[in-house]
Amino acid sequence: MMKKNKIFIACDSTSILKIKKIIKYSTNARFIIGYKFGLEFLNSKNGRNFVSKLKKKIIFADLKLHDIPNTCVSAIKAIKDLKVNYLTIHISSGLHALRAAKKVSGSMRLVGVSILTSLNNKELKEIGFNKDVKKLVLNQAKLANKAKLDAIVCSPQEVNIVKKVFKNEIITPGIRLNSKNNDQKRTLTPKQAYKNGSDWLVIGRPITKGNIKRNIKTLIDHLYK
Ligand code: C5P
Repeated sequence: MMKKNKIFIACDSTSILKIKKIIKYSTNARFIIGYKFGLEFLNSKNGRNFVSKLKKKIIFADLKLHDIPNTCVSAIKAIKDLKVNYLTIHISSGLHALRAAKKVSGSMRLVGVSILTSLNNKELKEIGFNKDVKKLVLNQAKLANKAKLDAIVCSPQEVNIVKKVFKNEIITPGIRLNSKNNDQKRTLTPKQAYKNGSDWLVIGRPITKGNIKRNIKTLIDHLYK
């Protein structure tokens, strides 16, 4: 049998009803599906409690920790009861923070976030970064490797670069089936992302906005036809 493609669906909403709908309509034999809960849902009134009750699902807590080592460690300890499978920390938190986080993350897979897929070279310059995206991401992948992180988040355009120095899982947001990029800058199609060697795609709005069932069908047609 063909290897199943893996997708994290970005459950970005404050509505429990909406999240229930996403879970119901996205269950599909073609994929291994995980659910990614980020800043919006986990900070919403009932979000954390909802996640704590999910059973037998692959759960990704996209906390995007970006803080001093002590705070990163405390935050990871504070979320431990949720027993999530994946948890994110910005690689730019620095090697010390990454190592400290890895030490306390236990059975959670610690995922290093590289340069956000919403940024391009011009915006990086504005922030004060003098290297281009590809160089920065390569550098961050080396750091993630040093800290023995379990996975990296990068744009599908940088998978090849990351693979050179990082051998664990690669997770790519910035997935688009058409030119509707929203706020994402460094995008590719699902097919291209898998071809580049991405292990997991993160897909949000292209699945969750509008008719979820129809969106999933469009995705299946794109991948398998
Ligand atoms: O809706 P869309 O497909 O753009 O959703 C992408 C998801 O991936 C969002 O939840 C966003 O927070 C997350 N993400 C990202 N880029 C990163 C890391 C996470 O887009 N570098």
